[in-house]
Amino acid sequence: MKTDRIEMETAQAIISDRTHAWHHLTQHKPFEETDPMMIVEGKGMRVKDANGREYLDAVSGGVWTVNVGYGRESIAKAVHDQLLKLCYFANTVGNIPAAQLSEKLTEKLPGMSRVYYSNSGSEANEKAYKIVRQLAFMYNEGRKHKIIFRDRDYHGTTIAALSSTGQFERKNQYGPFLEGFVEFPHCCCYRCPFGKSYDHCEIDCAKSLEKTILKEGPDTVGGVVLEPITAGGGVILPVPEYFPIIQQICRKYDVLLHIDEVVCGLGRTGKWFGHQHYDVQPDIVTMAKGVASGYAAISCTVTTEKIFNYFKADPSERMHYFRDISTFGGCTGGPAAALETIRILEEEKLLENVTVMGAYLMDRLCELQDKYPVIGDIRGKGLFVGAELVQDRASKTPFTESMTADIVANCLQQGVIVGRTTRCFQEFNNTLTLSPALIAGKPELDEIISAIDSALSATA
Ligand SMILES: Cc1ncc(COP(=O)(O)O)c(C=O)c1O
Repeated sequence: MKTDRIEMETAQAIISDRTHAWHHLTQHKPFEETDPMMIVEGKGMRVKDANGREYLDAVSGGVWTVNVGYGRESIAKAVHDQLLKLCYFANTVGNIPAAQLSEKLTEKLPGMSRVYYSNSGSEANEKAYKIVRQLAFMYNEGRKHKIIFRDRDYHGTTIAALSSTGQFERKNQYGPFLEGFVEFPHCCCYRCPFGKSYDHCEIDCAKSLEKTILKEGPDTVGGVVLEPITAGGGVILPVPEYFPIIQQICRKYDVLLHIDEVVCGLGRTGKWFGHQHYDVQPDIVTMAKGVASGYAAISCTVTTEKIFNYFKADPSERMHYFRDISTFGGCTGGPAAALETIRILEEEKLLENVTVMGAYLMDRLCELQDKYPVIGDIRGKGLFVGAELVQDRASKTPFTESMTADIVANCLQQGVIVGRTTRCFQEFNNTLTLSPALIAGKPELDEIISAIDSALSATA
């Protein structure tokens, strides 16, 4: 009886979905003929669709989010208990889990000391841009307001976040974009924008930041925003020299360094934050996705005490405080879920697991690269890896987007959900992305590799 009722409910939900729901990043025409995929439950690293078919999720909920895996009772309980005690009050006042999380997060981020809450990665970045702009108005007559961003980085979906995004196809048809956002070249060695190779280069990609600042005028540039490792733009790691050069340029021209940890934050790369692999001290760090592992919406904009102090320096001036608000930045479920997520990461030593399993995943991918010339480049850190596919290794002609999509579809047929770069650039939508939950072990990673192996052998 119970099963019949659940089946009826699911069948009805599929009809409702086809009739009324509008999915993200999705062309809906095919759903006039077929049912959309509906994921209805998850446990550990596995999810089930509405037809009861099970999949191994190699992408943590599709977009690098469910870091500690599905079905965590302790997170659900922490959120449940907190919501019954106090579900919400505007963050113009404090609440207990938010205060506790601020302390916890800043412990993990030496040099940073203040946490500002909102509820998406885009919004966290918008807050950072508003901090830069307001500082310019408070101390520089509004001049030092420009934000420099990098080609191939993504910083979110809202118009300011898109204005600071360097992915042509993500931005296409949403202009005009905002003034005051300026692009500089990416740092992908495999496709060096300067046509050089690492052993014969002067790290021009980092140095080009200085050229951009000088071109714009140093007294007009207030911030630079960078992903520590570019995620959706193709999993691009900087070389070790990159961030120290960026830092030195930022200090020289009094430009705030904002690192967008929305994907890399909270252990994805084997350290608490992606930038901690490099010798760099940011002024602003933003995070979302894995902070509460998808159990509740939360994002954070974290700054130094120095930045915070600028906003309280002159209380007699009516406009001298950060005049920003985010309604749902006052939800207590997010911080409660985040605190429990961090407790799990610590108790289960998941950062250590990421380092060990990340190395294993990389080794297994290298074996595939030896077998399949279509794997042009493998890049990654921890459980955050991309495999760039090419039609020809010598010319590096990229796989087309549909060829890459076919590999992903083949893996899905085999019951493994892998990711790919989608509609970011005109020609480089050719990277398979893997970001399994941080609990992944060898058996799950072997299953992922085996699915990619068969998918590639079917196209070879
Ligand atoms: C690096 C980065 N920053 C910001 C965002 C935007 O986050 P959200 O979708 O939560 O607004 C994303 C989303 O994928 C991201 O990858």
